[in-house]
Amino acid sequence: MLENRRILLIVAGGIAAVKVPDLIRRLRERGASVRCILTKGGSQFVTPLTLAALSGDKCYQDLFSLTDEAEMGHIRLSREADIILVAPATADIMAKMVMGQADDLATTALLATDKPVMIAPSMNVMMWTHPATQSNLQILKTREVRVVGPSAGDLACGEVGNGRMAEVPEIIAALTRFFQKSAGQGPLTGFRALVTSGPTHEPIDPVRYIANRSSGKQGHAVATALAELGASVTLIAGPTNEPDPDGVKIIHVETAKQMMKACTESLPAEIVICAAAVADWNVESAGGQKIKKESGKTPALKLAENPDILATLAQPGPSRPSLVIGFAAETENLIENAQLKRAKKNCDWIVANDVSPGSGAFGGDNNTVHLVTADGVESWPTLQKRAVAERLAERISAFVERNL
Ligand code: CTP
Repeated sequence: MLENRRILLIVAGGIAAVKVPDLIRRLRERGASVRCILTKGGSQFVTPLTLAALSGDKCYQDLFSLTDEAEMGHIRLSREADIILVAPATADIMAKMVMGQADDLATTALLATDKPVMIAPSMNVMMWTHPATQSNLQILKTREVRVVGPSAGDLACGEVGNGRMAEVPEIIAALTRFFQKSAGQGPLTGFRALVTSGPTHEPIDPVRYIANRSSGKQGHAVATALAELGASVTLIAGPTNEPDPDGVKIIHVETAKQMMKACTESLPAEIVICAAAVADWNVESAGGQKIKKESGKTPALKLAENPDILATLAQPGPSRPSLVIGFAAETENLIENAQLKRAKKNCDWIVANDVSPGSGAFGGDNNTVHLVTADGVESWPTLQKRAVAERLAERISAFVERNL
């Protein structure tokens, strides 16, 4: 997908500029051509000579360079690309993009271009979460600027949090997805995926129910990421506040039994991902009338086990989907329990996540997961749920490419 793509790479002044040489190498390995614009700040972290040597092209720096203008002209520079990638994108360059400032070559190219733009933000966590940056981000998104990352982790400034520039493979994946999408296809085109998401609500009576803290953010993000790679996705969603993802067929359900029925009716599919936090029990004694409070008496709820959707869909048989993935929400012995769950439910992969109270996984925007497969355990850094979903979708594409 990156073969013969022309990428204008704007390198702004952040410590993550040290990742840029590797990024250029990986892009060129995939057949892309890379032309660099280096800002004054960027040149504090990486030299123009390095960028020129690795890109095999001139590294552009000055807006008023007589030679560059005579050879190419900054307007042409901004147009002779299939995409402009700003990596790292600092808070400063994002703000300038919003304002339409054009006080150097990079910002002038960004203002003069008629090509799609992608940014890979990188900055201190406080700068990233500052309302000014967040509002700039929203404005850029409404102008269809694509955003990859940032992720959470140790920052160069010594603080910990969101603000690390996306890793090189993530940036490459985002570019690949962009070009696939613009070509109307993806590595999962022609494959059907079924995703469950959110909690289930199990009625106690017509006004009360048993629920759990699942927000549906992770499952919905998985559905979106698969659709972006071209899969035809059916999302079976329990009650959540998440908006219905674009480009996905969605079936809203309430209880585990309804989710089970919707899943079996939505088969066949090649890929199944059970991300829902399905209630383990339903209230057998649930009645049609509201349970009335009687002084001195507490009602006894009789519980019955719900069907295990993941285990049912993963049962061996001719119609078993080729790849069945479960999630394991654990509060202790994470990996061990996930491995046991994988075996017990006969699924191919388990995405294990710590949902103990301090983890912030339930309801939060980030997730720290481990991918448990027959080949072993792969521990991922703390990532936004969207990034976890994108990585998982990449792994699924690789599986599909190898096996289907
Ligand atoms: N799952 C399911 N149907 C159920 C229960 C769980 O499909 N009735 C799926 C979940 O979507 C998830 C996986 O099974 O992919 C593991 O769910 P989890 O809640 O971690 O485990 P449980 O099987 O419920 O076991 P326990 O609560 O004892 O940890």
